[in-house]
Formats: sequence, C-alpha cells, structure tokens
Amino acid sequence: MSNIDCNILIVEDEALMCELLGSFFTDKGYRVSFAHSGEEAIEQLKEESCALVLSDLRLPGMSGLELLARIQVDWPETVVIMMTAFGSISSAVEAMRLGAEDYISKPFQLDEILITVEKALERRSLRREVRELRAAVRERYNFSNIIGRSKPMQELFEVIKRLAARRDASALIIGSTGTGKELVARAIHYNSDRRDYPFIAINCSAIPETLLEAELFGHQKGTFTGATETRRGLIEEAQGGTVFLDEVNTISPNIQVKLLRVLQDHLVRRVGGRENIPVDVRFISATNQDLEEIVRKGDFRKDLYYRLNVVPVRLPDVKDRREDIPLLVSHFLEKFAKQHGEPVRRFSKEAMRILMTHNWPGNVRELENAVEHALTMSNDEILTPTDLPENVTNPDRDIIEEAAMDGASLAEMERRYILHMLKKMGGHQIKTAEALGIDRRTLYRRLRQYGITEVSAFTDAPIKRAVRASVQ
Ligand SMILES: Nc1ncnc2c1ncn2[C@@H]1O[C@H](COP(=O)(O)OP(=O)(O)OP(=O)(O)O)[C@@H](O)[C@H]1O
Ligand SMILES: [Mg+2]
Repeated sequence: MSNIDCNILIVEDEALMCELLGSFFTDKGYRVSFAHSGEEAIEQLKEESCALVLSDLRLPGMSGLELLARIQVDWPETVVIMMTAFGSISSAVEAMRLGAEDYISKPFQLDEILITVEKALERRSLRREVRELRAAVRERYNFSNIIGRSKPMQELFEVIKRLAARRDASALIIGSTGTGKELVARAIHYNSDRRDYPFIAINCSAIPETLLEAELFGHQKGTFTGATETRRGLIEEAQGGTVFLDEVNTISPNIQVKLLRVLQDHLVRRVGGRENIPVDVRFISATNQDLEEIVRKGDFRKDLYYRLNVVPVRLPDVKDRREDIPLLVSHFLEKFAKQHGEPVRRFSKEAMRILMTHNWPGNVRELENAVEHALTMSNDEILTPTDLPENVTNPDRDIIEEAAMDGASLAEMERRYILHMLKKMGGHQIKTAEALGIDRRTLYRRLRQYGITEVSAFTDAPIKRAVRASVQ
C-alpha cells in the first residue's frame, strides 16, 4: 500500500498546528487536506472520502465526538484518530467507545503521531483484506457452486438449506469418494450464521490416535513428552464455528467416548486438564463407509452415531445422476477457462458420449480432473476423446484398480476381467478371446473354471451358446 492511497484529513482550528502536521505528513508521502471545523470536514468528505481523519476533540461548532459519530455512519471505511487535550482522558475514552480507532493526547511528538497513524492505517487495510477474503470464500461456497439439477441433487439442496438455517443441528454426510462431502460441509457452514467464525476440517483417518486426541481436545502442559506448553484443541479453536470430522468412521472407541461428551454437554476437557471449557460449535461429520453397518458390528458407538447423525445428508454417485454430467462438464470448462483467462472450450460429440457413459468411480473429483486433463492436453477449441485421460477412455483399468483395492486374489481379478471383457464385447466370444489375447478354447476353460455358467447377465445369444458349449 503506498502512502498516496492514504489521504489524511486534518480537522483542527489552530492554523499553526494544521501547518505543522500538514507539512510533516506531506513529507512522509501522504496526501493531506485540511478542515477547520467539523462542518467543513463533512463537506470535504462529501467531495472525496478519505482513509483517515485526524481530528481535534475540541472544535468550534460541531464537536469532535459529533463529527466522529457522523463519520461512523456515513463513511464507515474511514478511520478516525482523536487528538485530545492533555488530561482529558475521559473524553478520549468516550471517543474510543464511539468507535475512534485511537487517540493521542497533546502535546505529542511528531514521531509518536506517525506511529499512531501508521498503525491505524495498517489495521484498516487488514480489516479490508479480511472482509474481501471472507466475501470471496462465501462466494466460493455459495449453493450455486454445487452443481446438479437431478432429483437426488434437488433433494440434497433442500436438506442443506435447512441445515444452514439451523445453527446447531449435527449432520452426517454420507457419500463415496469425490462426491462433494467437504464442499457440502463448507457450503452449510458459510451459509449459516456461523459463517464469520472458523470452519475447521479434521481428517480423522490421517492422524494417529494419540495425536488426534490432543489435536481435537488440546492438552495441558507436561501431560506427555513433547507437551511443553498448554495448547487449545481444534474444537476450542473452532469456537462459534463448525468442526468438520472427515472419515469419522475411523475414530477409536476412546475418542468416541470423549467426543460424545462434547456433543452432549458442550464442554471440552483438554488431555491432562481438569477444567471443563464451554464450547459452542456445530459438528458436521463425513463418512464414505456405511456407518450404520459399523455400528451394527459394534465398532462405533450407537449413542455417538445418533448424536452425529441428527440430519443425514446423502450424496449420490455421479453414475446415479448422469443427467447432471453435462452441467458439471460445462461448469468445470467455464471454471478453468476463467482461472486461466482463456475462452471457454467444449467437448466433441464423441468425447461427450464417453463422459456420459463412463462410470466415474472417483465421482465429481474424477470428472473435474478429466476436464482439466483434456484442457491441458489440447489447444483446440473442440476437445476430442484422445484428450481425455486413459482411464476414462479405457476404463478396463478401473476393474484392475477396484480389484486391487478390494484385495482380490489374482484368480478373482482374472474372473472379473474376463466378465468385464465379455460384457464389453457384447458377449461375442471370439472377439473376447482376441481382446484377452487367448484362444477360444482357453476362454471356455476359464469360464468353466470360474463357474461362469449363469449367464443371464449376457443376453446376447452367442455367448450363451458359447458358455453352454463349454460346460457340456
Ligand atoms: N456438486 C458439485 N458441483 C461442483 N463441484 C463439485 C461437486 N461435488 C464435488 N465437487 C468438486 O469435486 C471435488 C471433490 O469434492 P470433495 O473434496 O468435497 O469430495 P469428498 O466427498 O470430500 O471426497 P473424499 O471422500 O475423497 O474426501 C472438489 O473439487 C469439489 O469442489
Ligand atoms: Mg473429503
């Protein structure tokens, strides 16, 4: 920030004082103007608002305090510093109470007033920055940035709007990876009246148990090695705001008990501490596993489950809301174009067909990455299938990845892969064998080996015959 952006209006009826301050601040690079009364100051502000008003408390006509009150209402961005006579502390206190940024008592050193002015201007610019950042974040988590018009998404909007309006209701967001759980949690927070307080996200599975406990609840000095000072936990840090417990299904029984206490009593006790500290936070949790099933198995406390899951929020997989794919695609095309300052591009018909039919195991995140990948791979206005990531155009890879994630044996992986290829080839056995790089007889043998005799899934006549032939 250059000083030139910071014009100062000096309101002072003593000519000598005006001259002194004026030449001093002009030397320091500020733009300075003068008013000899409150009334004159207001006229000048109407002409051009200014960053800072340095006003004497005692003025002819309108008093300094009256001027201050008027500036607060009409020019809230302008900060006011009051110059008070030596000994008039009570007026200075009154000025501060009315919203003056600071005060300085006369007589003062010029260096002293320079520091006071600089500090006030710095606070003003920080406040402005915070305000702008907040507005940007709020804009980002506007409901309109959650894309989807399908039935499940419409239902979702209803639920999250209701949640935003209720500041205390706990919510459990249930959805597969990449469906937007964190996006939704943030949208609820930034549209609730907790928006000006922190949103703190904690990935419960990423932190080892002992650390997680201290992270969540804080700790008292000396409780364990490394606890060299008393620290507040994240729940306390979120005071007034929202705590987002991501992958809540992974928390240990010990932490489950402690969390339950916080949810029930709104009190936090630091690890090793004796004091119960009141906290006002909303809990939003997320899980990509069936938490109800985990409760049934006895690995998650039922009472905590009910506390966390006051309002369940289910996020649909992309493959169950395919009608939203074109919307999501254009949303991301526009978003990236804007980010890179480029004109918006689009996908060819064939590329769009692939995007519409892909299974999207990584959901919206995978789709977003696919769009970004295509934009990076090509310079053309129209993006084609070759610009899409390999696993989207050639989803065979997904089968392998999925099997690996399930910890499937090699044989099981082979079985799934053969089934997948059969489907892909529309049940055509010769093409399937060719695609697999084996001869027809080997394929029959494998089908028999894996007990693929129930072929109702393959309605195509040739394969039925093929399998029957192989079983005989
Ligand atoms: N409905 C949506 N509209 C627009 N963008 C979305 C939508 N859903 C998700 N996204 C985007 O997809 C990405 C993944 O979303 P997010 O991180 O919220 O998913 P998640 O469910 O928390 O995933 P994970 O289980 O892997 O943590 C983010 O960039 C997010 O902005
Ligand atoms: Mg997430």
